[in-house]
Order: sequence, then structure tokens, then C-alpha cells
Amino acid sequence: MSKVSIIGQGYVGLTIASFAAKVHQVVGFDNRADVVDRLNQGISHIEGVESSDLKSLIKSGSYRASADPSDIKGSEIVIIAVPTPLDEKRNPDLSFLESACKTIGENLTAPALVINESTSFPGTVRDFIKPTVEKYSSSNFENSYAVSPERVDPGRAEWNQKNTPRLYAGLTANATLATAAFYKTFCDELVEVSSPEIAEAAKLFENTFRQVNIALVNEFAQITNALGFSIQETLAAAATKPYGFMKFHPSSGVGGHCIPVDPTYLAYAAAAKGIEATFIQRANEVNLEMPKYIIQRVKADHGGSLEGKKIQIIGVSYKPDVADTRETPAELLIKEAEKEGAQVSWHDPVVKVWRGESSRGLGNADIAILVTRHSIFDLDEIPKSFTYLFDTTGSIVNVPGL
Ligand SMILES: NC(=O)c1ccc[n+]([C@@H]2O[C@H](COP(=O)([O-])OP(=O)(O)OC[C@H]3O[C@@H](n4cnc5c(N)ncnc54)[C@H](O)[C@@H]3O)[C@@H](O)[C@H]2O)c1
Repeated sequence: MSKVSIIGQGYVGLTIASFAAKVHQVVGFDNRADVVDRLNQGISHIEGVESSDLKSLIKSGSYRASADPSDIKGSEIVIIAVPTPLDEKRNPDLSFLESACKTIGENLTAPALVINESTSFPGTVRDFIKPTVEKYSSSNFENSYAVSPERVDPGRAEWNQKNTPRLYAGLTANATLATAAFYKTFCDELVEVSSPEIAEAAKLFENTFRQVNIALVNEFAQITNALGFSIQETLAAAATKPYGFMKFHPSSGVGGHCIPVDPTYLAYAAAAKGIEATFIQRANEVNLEMPKYIIQRVKADHGGSLEGKKIQIIGVSYKPDVADTRETPAELLIKEAEKEGAQVSWHDPVVKVWRGESSRGLGNADIAILVTRHSIFDLDEIPKSFTYLFDTTGSIVNVPGL
């Protein structure tokens, strides 16, 4: 059993904590006192981490949250799980990583293994995390450093920390061994790669693969519509090929912390070497254009004007069964609809409160746009509440007039 500190108690950090605390002594450090207070009361804010499980970990003494950086003292392992977003110029913003490194550098009093789980470009552990921790440390010992990119997909029940293969590599052979020994305590399958840069790049490519394929199917949806046939039937037909094809679903675009963001980290690393990541750029454009495309389709269905129409957006989180609204395409969709003079409301019993507003009851609108299909939605009931419904999810079938 080791003392493990996890910097950042959001989707990734709390999920890891809930698995690691079954074996280790875990401090979940977060700089938001309100998050820490709720966690210490056993209230989880993350789908997939049940409050009842959190309560029993707290009761057994194997987990506690803290906003006091000195609580990471004495850790043998420190995991970084802080945001890596884009700045206002849509370049990588490493400020959260920098402040996590500061906390580590200033508070560790004995050597530890520092593992980065935040997503970033190749070279982040070697050229940013290690030197930044060292910059803030006044001690003369050496930490070890490794990376193990997080692959958790909140809301996906069948793949979790335990059964999702985990990539890892250390900056030194000893760091690699120690990283394997740690994850072996709660992960079934470990995949060692030859350098941290390979692990970092693999994570970015996984999400770029999804971003580009989502853009491709979104463009294909526009093509099939223009040609006058069904995208869903065409995709189902293509998916009967037993090899060389993977089905992606058309949608209103991409959202969340990963798919709209991570490919830009890869493009940034490419640009530093003089390479233009043209697929990534075009995929970003296609996905960001989808809300406008959808509103134009709805407008065309309403005689070329949405002026004064009441539109209800159903499901505003970026994906089903999570309350996460970061980078949600629903936001752009609302903006586009308002530009056309529509009055927009939203209904999402999973998100509940968003942009300072509460979710409205279903109905009372001329037009509904289903953006995110939560499993609690009753797909038979939704069409009954509207005379016109545009389903961006392909979930509602065989409803006359849809
Ligand atoms: N959410 C996902 O599905 C997912 C999946 C794989 C990888 N990732 C990556 O994992 C990283 C974390 O993402 P997330 O979704 O967990 O973010 P999140 O916003 O849910 O959680 C981050 C937490 O870190 C805290 N924090 C920020 N700076 C801090 C600091 N200096 N010290 C202590 N706490 C700090 C925040 O208060 C927040 O609670 C990102 O790099 C992301 O790209 C996320």
C-alpha cells in the first residue's frame, strides 16, 4: 500500500481515486474548496463514481479530499489529473499543469513517482513537467517521472479503469517499473511503450482518429441529404462489411474536454516542426459547422424563416448520460437559432442547470431539436410533445411526419 496523491478531483482524478483507494491510501487534492467539501461529505459530482462507494472509502480511511497542498507531503506517488484546455487563441493552455507542478515542487519533502494522466502533446513530461516541478522545488532529491494517459470515457459502463488497457512509460527504466507496479494493483492490462512521447502521442492520435471520423460522417450526412437518401440506412448498409469499416454516427458536432481539444494539441506539436495538420483543421471546421447546417435545414423546413419560432433543444450535454456541457455543440446551435430570430429554450434533466438557467419542461415549442439522447428520455413520448422534431441522433424512427 502506498500513499498516493491525486492532483485534480474532476472526471479523471476522482475516477482514478475511486479505484486506487481500494488498494492505497489516497489524498484527492483539488484547489476548489467547494469540490473538496462535497467530496469529504461523500457526495460525488462525477458519473461513474457512486456517492455510496465514496462514502465507504472515506469511512475505511483510504480516501480523503483536501484543498491543503501540504497534505501531499510523504506521497510515494503523485498523479496529475488537471485540465489541459485551449487558450483564447486556441493554443494549448498548460497553466493548470504549471500550477499542479508548483504544488508538487513546493510540497514534496521526499522523492516520489510523478505520473501525468492529463492529456498533452509529446514531450510534456520530459520538457515541461519535470523542469517545472524542479523549478518550484527547493529540495535536493530527484523525483521519478512517467506518463500514463487517461482513457476513461465517463458514462461508458462496460469499459472502466480496471479493464481498459493502460499505456505507460517512464523517463527512466526505474520509473517505468514503478509505474507498472502501481497500476498493476488496480488495472488488468498494462501496455508498456518505449518512451513517454509514444504514450502521449498515442493518446492524441486516438482522439484525433475519432474527431476526423466524426467530421467525415457529418460531411457524409450532408452529402446523403443533398442526394436525397437516408444516412442511417446507408451507414447500416456499409457497416455490414465485416472488416475495414468502423461505424461513426452523424451528430450536431463534438464536445467535451477531449475530442474538440486534443487534436489541436497534436496540430500544435506538428506546427512546431513545420507540419500543417490539415486533416485536424478541416475536421474541426466540419464539426463546428454542423450546428449552422442543422439550423439551416430546420429553417428550410419552415419556409425559409425561423423568426419568432419557439425552438426547444433536447439534451444539452455533449454526450448521453453525462452532465458535462464543456464545448457542447448545443451552445452553437442555440446561437445559430437565435441569430435566425428564434426563441430558444432547453430541456435536459441530466444537466438540470446550465448557463445560470434551469432545464425547462418538455414541450411548449414549435420546433424540437434532439441533440443528445440520454437513456432516461422516453423516445415514444418526446415526438408526442411537438409537431416538428429534428433528430440529430438518429434515435427516433418510424414516427410519421418526423
Ligand atoms: N473527462 C474525460 O473524459 C477525460 C478522458 C481522458 C483524459 N482526460 C484528460 O484528463 C485531464 C483532466 O480532465 P478532467 O475531465 O478530469 O477535468 P475536470 O475539469 O473534470 O477536473 C479537473 C479538476 O482539477 C482541478 N484543478 C485544476 N487545477 C488544479 C490545480 N492546480 N491543483 C489542484 N486541482 C486543480 C479542478 O478544480 C477540477 O476539479 C485533462 O487533461 C483531460 O484532457 C479527460
